[in-house]
Amino acid sequence: MCGIIGFTGASQAAPVLLSGLKRLEYRGYDSAGIAVQCEGEIRMLKATGKVDTLIERYGQDRQMNGVCGIGHTRWATHGAPSDINAHPHMSMDGLFAIVHNGIIENYAQIRKELIDEGVKFLSETDTEVIVQLLMKYYDGNFQNTVLKTLSRLEGSYAVGIMCRDFPGVLYAAREASPLIIGLGAGENFFASDITALVSHTKNVIDLDDGEVAEIRSDSISIFDHAGRPVEKTERHITWDVAAAEKNGYEHFMLKEIMEQPNALKATIDPRVRDGRIVLDDLDLDMSCYDRIMITACGSAYHAGCVGRSVIETLCRIPVETELASELRYRDFVMDEKNLVIVVSQSGETADTIAALRECRSRGATVLAIVNVVGSSIAKLADHVIYTWAGPEIAVATTKGYTTQVAVLTMFAIWAADRLGRIEPEEYSEMVSALMKIPERAQRTLDLNARVRKLAKKYHDRKSLFFIGRNLDYSSCLEGSLKLKEISYIHSEAYAAGELKHGTIALIEPGRLVVALCCCERLFDKTVSNIQQVKARGAKVLAVALESNRRIFSEADDVLLVPSTHRLLVPIVEIIPLQLFAYFVAGFNGCDIDKPKNLAKSVTVE
Ligand code: AGP
Repeated sequence: MCGIIGFTGASQAAPVLLSGLKRLEYRGYDSAGIAVQCEGEIRMLKATGKVDTLIERYGQDRQMNGVCGIGHTRWATHGAPSDINAHPHMSMDGLFAIVHNGIIENYAQIRKELIDEGVKFLSETDTEVIVQLLMKYYDGNFQNTVLKTLSRLEGSYAVGIMCRDFPGVLYAAREASPLIIGLGAGENFFASDITALVSHTKNVIDLDDGEVAEIRSDSISIFDHAGRPVEKTERHITWDVAAAEKNGYEHFMLKEIMEQPNALKATIDPRVRDGRIVLDDLDLDMSCYDRIMITACGSAYHAGCVGRSVIETLCRIPVETELASELRYRDFVMDEKNLVIVVSQSGETADTIAALRECRSRGATVLAIVNVVGSSIAKLADHVIYTWAGPEIAVATTKGYTTQVAVLTMFAIWAADRLGRIEPEEYSEMVSALMKIPERAQRTLDLNARVRKLAKKYHDRKSLFFIGRNLDYSSCLEGSLKLKEISYIHSEAYAAGELKHGTIALIEPGRLVVALCCCERLFDKTVSNIQQVKARGAKVLAVALESNRRIFSEADDVLLVPSTHRLLVPIVEIIPLQLFAYFVAGFNGCDIDKPKNLAKSVTVE
């Protein structure tokens, strides 16, 4: 999704903006641009394609001397990716420039109104209406003009605005799109997220919906749409630049796969004291709820599918899962006896936010499991448990996913205990298995070289299946998505027992079937399915527990993962599938960290 950045200080703005845009690349984009206040005018530079192209153009041009500017990476929504549609956009009179993330829902109506008044639009974007409105309402007072313009907008926005008449002054405003203010020494910033700013400052203010900031090099003022001042507190970021860099790995995805033992440790360890799960600040009376609904998108939804089985098994409460993009538009039944668990790495996914709001409006209590502190979902929920995975840059989530599963499992143990539905032996057994999970994840990573070989063997397949039952099936959903999103190879996850109801018709000689057989209780059942596909000529790559050697006589290739508690298996069995997707994509020459058409944070519908 689009990323925005703004800078005002004493040093040259363009290099700061360009390096910030490089760090925002992971969000997904198709064009980029910057605008800088130079010698009494606003100058812009834009490029379709990569930020590197923009940097090249800046290198050739270098006409952008100035200490205040704004920048943008655009993920096209209204109008194709092109230099003209790329942001920043400038008002017809060259007075204002703007960058915007979000969607202006009433842009067509405003555009018509302005065209009727003689305004000439250059781009097809919804954003351009904002900057032309600024021109229309300008009365010599920057703040009044911004507030009047914002009052006309419907939809979502994080905007950064500059005016030629006000050197060194930036305005930023937020409505349902992420935006933070970065506080430096003699310089200040705004950005879509902290990764763009972390090399400059670790002190930030989170802007909330309905808030507007005036940013100068030596001051920040925040107010609401009526111009009333708003008191905000500063937040200090604990992670450093290295966390947002590749540290010698070829791709962020591989770095993040390898970071999983540490991310799991950071998520689990502080929440276990003297053998007990301690979820500080989680003030939930579990006896108030007769149903739990888990809602999320993509991989976070798959983590929710694992969570459903684990919570239901331990707590004996009915648990449902539903894709947030579906739930938000369904006339669903929900009341105050429902606990809704919303799962999101970014905390900014538009569909998940909308589903959360629908659930709250029906009286449900919302517990969010989120990675990004201060994100929209964290703010909107009644309760939050953070995954402490650290910044996740690759579009394909890995450590985000496994830490979500870990938190859902910890929540399940905690809730079952509160409800008096878990025996002390099982409680201790689960907590001790949980504490060992980082080590199990580390051992699973030893499969790296073997998975690479298998990826080399199978990377040219055009289509494949992932099969498994129960928790294995949830991991199939995630393994299949990983492969699709970064290698562009078609794959389908199938509940193994469903094969004979249709899909087996697609099994033909040479078809690769990845069979997950880590669910011991159902091992023989899945082996029957392996035999069925093998009888039709399929090649089978099986993932099984190291304690289960019987698999060798059933499959063509085998990956053994360390044994653990049966409810924790999803955390280890997904790791070889992440590596498989990674290496297959690599052998196929794909852009692993920034797959085509995808964005890290899906902040628009
Ligand atoms: C996973 O690899 C994806 N890129 C995607 O499915 C992601 O999980 C989904 O968009 C949800 O994002 P969130 O966790 O930030 O809400």
